[in-house]
Amino acid sequence: MQMPFVFDRYRSVIDAQLKSVMAPYRSPLYDMMRYHLGWIDERGNDLTDASGKALRPTLCLLSCEATGSDIARALPAAAAVELIHNFSLIHDDIQDDDGERRHRPTVWKVWGKAQAINAGTAMKILANMSLARSSRDALPPEKQQRMLASLDDATLKLIEGQYLDIDFEQRSEIDIDDYLAMIKGKTAALIACSMELGVLSGTDDADTIQRFRDFGENLGIAFQIRDDILGIWGDPNMTGKPLGSDIRRKKKSLPVVFALSRAADRQRDAIFKMLQKEILADDDVETFLGILDDMHVRASVQEMADGYCDKARRKIREAGIEPGSRGDFEHILEFLSARNY
Ligand code: IPE
Ligand code: IPE
Ligand code: MG
Ligand code: MG
Repeated sequence: MQMPFVFDRYRSVIDAQLKSVMAPYRSPLYDMMRYHLGWIDERGNDLTDASGKALRPTLCLLSCEATGSDIARALPAAAAVELIHNFSLIHDDIQDDDGERRHRPTVWKVWGKAQAINAGTAMKILANMSLARSSRDALPPEKQQRMLASLDDATLKLIEGQYLDIDFEQRSEIDIDDYLAMIKGKTAALIACSMELGVLSGTDDADTIQRFRDFGENLGIAFQIRDDILGIWGDPNMTGKPLGSDIRRKKKSLPVVFALSRAADRQRDAIFKMLQKEILADDDVETFLGILDDMHVRASVQEMADGYCDKARRKIREAGIEPGSRGDFEHILEFLSARNY
């Protein structure tokens, strides 16, 4: 499925803002970040087309424009949420032991885990600094403080979500509510915050802010459920991530949690037995995929994602924004619930 045009609309201003944040920093520590962001290869040569989708800054700028404000006011926030996201990915690939992201070796694969921790942590600091410094002239101080507090709160929720995600690897009795609490933290919090920061650039109206946040939260949940589907059934050529890694790592992604919640005793015993193994062999993964197939888990889980997209759609309709902006948000929803990468 093609990315909606709205992702192209802000691409160059987002890139320019991120590049200006990084420009003063030249030591090799920052080259690891430039590598992760897809700007250079491991030897320092320039690259194009290796970046992510820039979903969060796109949502931030779109939210700003939807309130009738100038996107220049939200650009520092847009760069900040993208940097927080990328900090979380650099650490996440260490935590998940994933060697590939966006079709390239992960930072830790190239420079080792110790240096990747440095790159990720420094990137998180840059995110906050860039929001604090570059929004100083564009926004009143109290608004800037509020944005920084919202970003810190979302980052903390993201880390709490990552804590749960890792904790759940060792536990079998995770239910759908546990799972939802985990992804609201690790994924939905930063997406809701991206929307909030964009809206805050233009308005203080509490109801409007809440509706945009609710849109972001529901979209974030649907987005992570789709990510979980891709983590099991996605084509590695499209996702840029190896096949079956979520299962091997015993991730309690939604297909697994859903299967455990609905399985008959025999199937549940088979799943538990597998989860107790230290290392899953290829045929364990095959057996597991067979159980998921028999139970039609993929379709049920996609239905859940679609349900959250519907909720998000209702929230953005309630926000009373002009039809052009509303259409942009709806296109993003459609794309994300069916994306293959
Ligand atoms: C991946 O996020 C991590 C999740 C929260 C699911 P994205 O799919 O937005 O990553 P990029 O930045 O486009 O690669
Ligand atoms: C996504 O984690 C959330 C964060 C990185 C904070 P996942 O581990 O589910 O995402 P991918 O599949 O590696 O991108
Ligand atoms: Mg993870
Ligand atoms: Mg991961």
